[in-house]
Formats: sequence, structure tokens, C-alpha cells
Amino acid sequence: MTGGTLIVGASQAGLQLAASLRQFGDTEPITLVGEEIHPPYQRPPLSKEFLSGKTDLESLTLRAPSYYADAGIALVSGERVTEVALSSAGRQGSGVAGAASGRTFAFDRLALTVGAAPRRLDVPGADLDGICCLRDRDDAAYLRERLVPGARVVVVGGGFIGLEAAAVARALGMEVTVVEAADRLISRAVAPVVSEFYRRAHLRRGTRVLLSTGVSGFEGAEGRVRAVRLTDGTALLADIVLVGVGVLPRTELAEQLGLACDRGIIVDAQARTSDPHVHAAGDCTVQPHPVPGLGAVRLESVQNAVAQATAAAASLLGRPVGARPVPWFWSYQGDLKLQIAGLSAGHDEYVVRGEPDSERFSVLYYRRGELLAIDAVNSPADYMAVRKALTVGAVLPASAAADSGTLLKTLLAARPDAVSSS
Ligand code: APR
Repeated sequence: MTGGTLIVGASQAGLQLAASLRQFGDTEPITLVGEEIHPPYQRPPLSKEFLSGKTDLESLTLRAPSYYADAGIALVSGERVTEVALSSAGRQGSGVAGAASGRTFAFDRLALTVGAAPRRLDVPGADLDGICCLRDRDDAAYLRERLVPGARVVVVGGGFIGLEAAAVARALGMEVTVVEAADRLISRAVAPVVSEFYRRAHLRRGTRVLLSTGVSGFEGAEGRVRAVRLTDGTALLADIVLVGVGVLPRTELAEQLGLACDRGIIVDAQARTSDPHVHAAGDCTVQPHPVPGLGAVRLESVQNAVAQATAAAASLLGRPVGARPVPWFWSYQGDLKLQIAGLSAGHDEYVVRGEPDSERFSVLYYRRGELLAIDAVNSPADYMAVRKALTVGAVLPASAAADSGTLLKTLLAARPDAVSSS
């Protein structure tokens, strides 16, 4: 390859960046390199519809094979970029990347959409057969094959991945135990009231949930896992263990380039790294929190990957970057559909609408009286109303929101300080 844009990482963000460059009229060569042998596909269904057998891997493909040729995007699958360097002379931002196979890629512009890797547990026995994580297609296929009737499943980590997979395994009739180190589930993302709801809801469905419990090691026989040893000394018999203890953003290439990193590649609202000629988007990045004064955030979502990659493409071409959309996210745990809009981090008040044990309720988060976010469980109308309020900057008073008899959309009001355009 000579020149053009090199995008390292061929998943949701990488593909979107390539597609947006073309949509914005870029006619230069585009090379999209990914280490997986599969063309870009959707990851969210892996722990839901795919695991439960409702869909197959082929239907998760994001674009038909013909798309890449038609759009003039050179998709290079199965190549892991291990080295990258920028030229000290010539056009700023140009350079060359090298793959593990020895193949090289020269570029005029570089974007990193390298994602994040599942965190591993550094305990004895962690390499035994039957212990897996769930991030890519191959992980999901491995796990699905082992979710067989009668299997005893231990899920380490009560975050989104762990609980989604636990819900599937339990619905398929397996004996399931979730082992969570923190004192509540999904503590990274939701308020304690929502964590407690999920604990009770999973218990009602027959899943065991152990909180404040760590794993000290795994025990096996003939190379296969047989038990999970907990920090309190107990052994849980297990045929299959899913480790879902979070992800680590892949910063190796950014570090080689000397780019600023702090639990992710630091980017600005235009997806520019500390070298403004190099862009980055998706799970590998850390970006300014949309609310000024609240620091930086790492957003692990399809919505963010798409929005940030679109911004990166515009910025690479010197076009204006649009306003940042309201973040949203979903987690379907069996029949429990959680939808999140906005970011609740930094809230100082929350309002619960509805009764959590009815399995239909929502939590609205506020900071200094300003609406920040919603977690909506089986309550799509509440979710939509809050997403709209956050998008248009409408007011939704906390005092009125708690009344679940009133539709939230009827409470939206223009800000008193909003300037009329008429
Ligand atoms: N033992 C038990 N639990 C642990 C341990 C440990 N040693 N270490 C961490 N945990 C728990 C955390 O307390 C947290 O509740 O694992 C959970 C990890 O949850 P997430 O951070 O949500 O990560 P994960 O579920 O792995 O999801 C990774 O996939 O679907 C996406 O949005 C999701 O981007 C996220 C990614």
C-alpha cells in the first residue's frame, strides 16, 4: 500500500471510520486492517442472541463482502499490526506500520480503532480448558458449544457480559453461579438500587449470586477445569467458567507513538490524540466527559464507536465535526431489557419511577437539579423521553418524574433560559 488512510482495527469503529470517509467524499486509498480473520461483525449479540441460539454468526456480519470492493476500502483481515512509526520528514501524520507477518503498510493518515482486550485473572489454573472470556466470535462459539444440558456454569464478574451470559445459560436450564468481587452487581455503570434489582431478578430465575467474593484459583483434572476456588476457601464445581471481569483498552501502538494515554488513548471531542494528526475512536479511547468539569470517560458502546469514528473521519478531512450525540447503551439479560441514555457518573440525586420488583421501572439521575441520565428496565417509553430531553436540552423536573402514573414525555419542558428563535 502507498499512502492514503490506514485504519488499524477492523471492528465497529474502524469500519465506521472507513465508511464515513467515503461518505464525506474522500477519494484517497483506505486500508482497514484487523487481526481477526472474520470481516467486521456486531459484537453485542454474541452474549445474547448468538449465545442463546437465536442467531448464527454469519448474520452478525456488518457489511456484505461486496461492500468493501464497491466502496474502495481495502479490508485486510488476519493481520495484527505490531509496530507503527510516523515519518520525521515529509507530510505530517504519514508513516509506516508493520504487521506480525512482516507485511508493511505505508500511510499518509493514521487512525487507531484497536478496541479493548478482556482482562484475564492472574490466578493458578487460569489456563485450564473450559475457562473462557467473551469478547469475539471465537470466544462466543467456544462458550456456546459448552453450554450443554446439565453443565455447571460459573460466571466470574457480575458486569454486563457476565450477567447477559448467565441469563442465557440459566434460561437454557443450566446451574449457574455468578461470583462478583464488588459488593453489588454492575457497579461500574448503575446506581445501587439497580444493582440490587438485578441481584434479586437473577435469584428469582434460579441463578446464584455471590457478592464480595473473589476467586483464588481454578482446579482441574486432565487439563480441564473442575472447580473454582473462592477467596473464602469454598470450591464451586464447574464444567465451564466464563470470566467477564472487564476490559483493558489496547494502548500498545499509541504508546509506541508516544501518544498520551491514561487508561485509554486520550482524545479530544474531534477524536484527535495528543498528536493531532493521529486519530483514535471506540473502546480504546478516553474522551472528555460531555458535562464540563467531570473529567474524562471511556465509553464502551456501539453508539460511541459509531459517533466517535464519524467525528474522526470528519476531522481527518478537515470538515466540521458535529455536536456530540447523547450516549446510549443497552444490556438485555434474558427478558430484562436495560436501556441507558446519558452518563450517570457524577450524579448527586436519583429518582426511581415504578417498583423495581415489578421488573418494569426506571431510575433518572440528576446533578444540581439537571437531568444527566436514565437506566430504564423494561420501560422503553421512559428511556425514549429522557433520551429526547437530553438531546434537545429540555427540562424534566425530578419532583414530577417519580410519579409513574404520568408519562415522562408529557413532563418535558423548554429550559426557562432557552432563547426563542422566533
Ligand atoms: N472476581 C470477580 N469479579 C470481578 C473481578 C474478580 N477478580 N474483577 C472484576 N470483577 C467484576 C467487576 O466488579 C465488575 O462488576 O467484574 C465486573 C466486570 O464488569 P464490566 O466492567 O461491565 O465488564 P464486562 O462485563 O467484562 O464487559 C466488558 O463488554 O458488553 C461490553 O459493555 C460491556 O464494554 C463492556 C465489555
